[in-house]
Amino acid sequence: MEKFVVTGGKPLSGEVTISGAKNAAVAIIPAVILCDEPCQIENIPNISDVSLISRILQQLGANVRRINRSSLYIDPTKIRTCNAVTDLVRGMRASYYLLGALLGKYGKAKVALPGGCNFGVRPIDQHLKGFEALGATTQLVDGAIIEAECDNLVGTHVYLDVVSVGATMNIMLAASKAKGQTIIENAAREPHIVDLANFLNSMGADVRGAGTDVIKIRGVEYLHGVTYSIIPDQIEAGTYMCAAAATRGCITVKNITPKHLESISAKLREMGVKITEYDEALKVDATVGPLKRCNIKTMPHPGFPTDCQPQFAALLMSVPGTSIINENVWDNRYQYVSELVRMGAQISVEGRLAIIEGGTPLTAAPVKATDLRAGAAMIIAALEINGTTEISNIQYIERGYEDVVEKFRALGADIKKVYFTGDNEQELGA
Ligand code: EPZ
Repeated sequence: MEKFVVTGGKPLSGEVTISGAKNAAVAIIPAVILCDEPCQIENIPNISDVSLISRILQQLGANVRRINRSSLYIDPTKIRTCNAVTDLVRGMRASYYLLGALLGKYGKAKVALPGGCNFGVRPIDQHLKGFEALGATTQLVDGAIIEAECDNLVGTHVYLDVVSVGATMNIMLAASKAKGQTIIENAAREPHIVDLANFLNSMGADVRGAGTDVIKIRGVEYLHGVTYSIIPDQIEAGTYMCAAAATRGCITVKNITPKHLESISAKLREMGVKITEYDEALKVDATVGPLKRCNIKTMPHPGFPTDCQPQFAALLMSVPGTSIINENVWDNRYQYVSELVRMGAQISVEGRLAIIEGGTPLTAAPVKATDLRAGAAMIIAALEINGTTEISNIQYIERGYEDVVEKFRALGADIKKVYFTGDNEQELGA
């Protein structure tokens, strides 16, 4: 069993370079299916979710190969099936983008229902509503497979009942080759939605308004091959910013878009962290004085991102006073709380609220990552503690964080990945 072993108690210092955005990559890679020529995608994070979606495209017949560590060549012209019912597909949430891409290109898709992170029911009714409005029929087969089909997709109005990142992107995919104009209202506005729109437009699509809550897509017949570079990962950056604050350190976070981090920077500033913005970097300095408690309410972009909520809980448990988190996006994103409590945190959960009595003494304890961002929170918590913490279930963390051990080590953290077999412990290549 692989684990991270973290000995904390030291402020982080130095520089970290942020990778390409996971949640953009896992949409843009399947979006290449729509293209009528090969594409090259750059600034791809080297994480297991990217390997998984790449292998899924290969199973469909696409030629996918790595040009180098952060670039993929994808030739979708050899795709020979729209049937994506495999364990690989079930293994990742973002495989739902195959529905929009295959439907948009070939008029049919058969896709196993997605798995992925483990925090409760994750419906896709808004995706299906969008496909149906475009003229497709959809049906759930055996409770585990979605089949979608159409003769022609025809542009339409879709009003989303909830602000959904996945539904917004999936409808954009399906509509980009539909006949006429599609208008998505109450669309999500995350940076990766703008990135997907920019990618589609660079291939010759006609998508306007991405980044606002009304997106207009006029279908085109042909999409040409491009070389496209994915945006930096807002949540990876937020995670390192949070870790710097939690250890009362001072770091520079490079290769980012500061505008995408405004809500995170604002909260850290409210807590007393000094943030200095540069064109493509931020300096996060938590050495300037004691930190203050704060409250957080997660919201769709430009609100505070739910994907940084667990990391902030780990930070706030080190700050004296009562902080309240209001999780407003997911119904059940507090499984990690019981792990932090094992470390001495005083956190109680009441429905959507987590009430944190910060500043209590913390001690090392064996903990597990209950999902990707929960895993990031475990690392941050472990870095705060004078002692050695073992974190298990690290496969969740490796789904979404490139070189997490190497990056934290470069910031001075004492973290290693080890393979445990009974009594034996062996360090894996850092
Ligand atoms: C994306 O998930 C991200 N995943 C999630 O990040 C992120 O937490 C989430 O957006 C919100 O920002 C990927 O991009 C792969 P949603 P997604 O559709 O698109 C409800 C991470 O850690 N809803 O915006 O699946 C839903 O239940 C991951 O990187 C419906 O009711 O999220 C939730 O309450 C975890 N019906 C809310 O909307 C639908 O059809 C937002 O979900 C779709 C969603």
